[in-house]
Amino acid sequence: MSVRDCSKKNCKNEEGNCPVMGEDGLPVQCVGTWAEDKYFFLEAYLNASCEARRKFADKNNAVFIDLFAGSGKCIIRSEKKEILSGGMRALQRDKAPFNELFFFDLSKANTEALLKRVNNKDNCHVICGDSNALVSNLVSSLLQKYYRYHFAFIDPFGPDNLKFNTLKELARLDRMDMLIHFPIGAIKRNLPNWKKKTNTILDDFLGTGIWRSKIEGVFSNQIFKILIDVFKEQLKTVGYPEEGLKIVSSGKDIYAGLPTVSVKNTKDVDLYVLILASKHPLAQKIWSSIIKMSPNGQKTFF
Ligand SMILES: C[S@@+](CC[C@H](N)C(=O)[O-])C[C@H]1O[C@@H](n2cnc3c(N)ncnc32)[C@H](O)[C@@H]1O
Repeated sequence: MSVRDCSKKNCKNEEGNCPVMGEDGLPVQCVGTWAEDKYFFLEAYLNASCEARRKFADKNNAVFIDLFAGSGKCIIRSEKKEILSGGMRALQRDKAPFNELFFFDLSKANTEALLKRVNNKDNCHVICGDSNALVSNLVSSLLQKYYRYHFAFIDPFGPDNLKFNTLKELARLDRMDMLIHFPIGAIKRNLPNWKKKTNTILDDFLGTGIWRSKIEGVFSNQIFKILIDVFKEQLKTVGYPEEGLKIVSSGKDIYAGLPTVSVKNTKDVDLYVLILASKHPLAQKIWSSIIKMSPNGQKTFF
C-alpha cells in the first residue's frame, strides 16, 4: 500500500487529487484546511434553509445541482484527514432531503468514484463532462417539471472552469438558489495579463468585458470590490433581483454590495469568497445571518 506523503510539494495529479487513494480505495481531492470553512457555510445554509426547502422536499420537488462535484471526498493535507465533499454533504440533509441530485465533473476518475460513493442511488445522477456544456440540457429537462426548488453548489477550481453563460442558463429556473465560489487568488494572479487582452477567461467568467474600464486607475485594494460588483450587476441581468443579492441585515461587506464570505488560507490571504444568489429575499436573509458567524463559532465583523 502506498504511504501518503503530504510533505511533498505539488504532488497532486491533474485532477487535483492525491496520488494515494482514500481509505475506501477511491480518489480523494487534496485540500487545505480552509476547505472546511467552505463546507461550514454550505452546510449552515442548507440547515438553516431546511424549513423553506421542506415544503418542496415533502412533494418530491427539491433538486440539488453540483456543477463541479469532485470525487466525493477530500483529504486535508496538513492533517491527513478525510472529509466529505460539498455534494456528499448535501446528500445527507435528512430533515428536508433533496429528492433529485445532479453531479457533474470533467474528470472520469472523479465521477466514477462519486458514483460509488453515492451508492449508485437512483435519485443521484452523476455525469462526466463539462458543466458549461451540460447545463443547458439539464435546465431544459428541469423546466419540464412543475414547481420545484433548486439549489446549485458552484465550486470551480478557478475562473477558467466556469462561464457566466452557465449561470445564465441556471437562472432560467424560477426557484434557483446558487452558492458560488468566486475565486480571488486565481484572478489576482492573472489580472495583469488579462487587463492587456480581450476575450479572456475573466471576460467569460464575468460574462462581460466591462470590468477592464472599471478598474482602470483604481487602487489595487479596491479592484475586487469592483469585480464583484460587476458580477452582481451581471446576476441582476439574468433575473436575480437586488433583494436576492443584497445583505438584509445592516452591516459592512468587505468586498461589495454582495453578501460574500471570504475563505482564507493559513496565511490569512483571501482565496475566494462565497456568494449566495437567490431570487427570493428570504434566502438572502438566511445567508446574511449565517455569514455573521465564522466557522470557529465567533462572530465576524460584517
Ligand atoms: C474545487 S474542485 C470541486 C470540489 C467539490 N465541489 C467538493 O466539494 O469537494 C473542482 C472540480 O471541478 C472539476 N472541473 C473543472 N472544470 C470543470 C468543468 N468545466 N466542468 C465540470 N467539472 C469541472 C474538477 O475536476 C474538480 O473535481
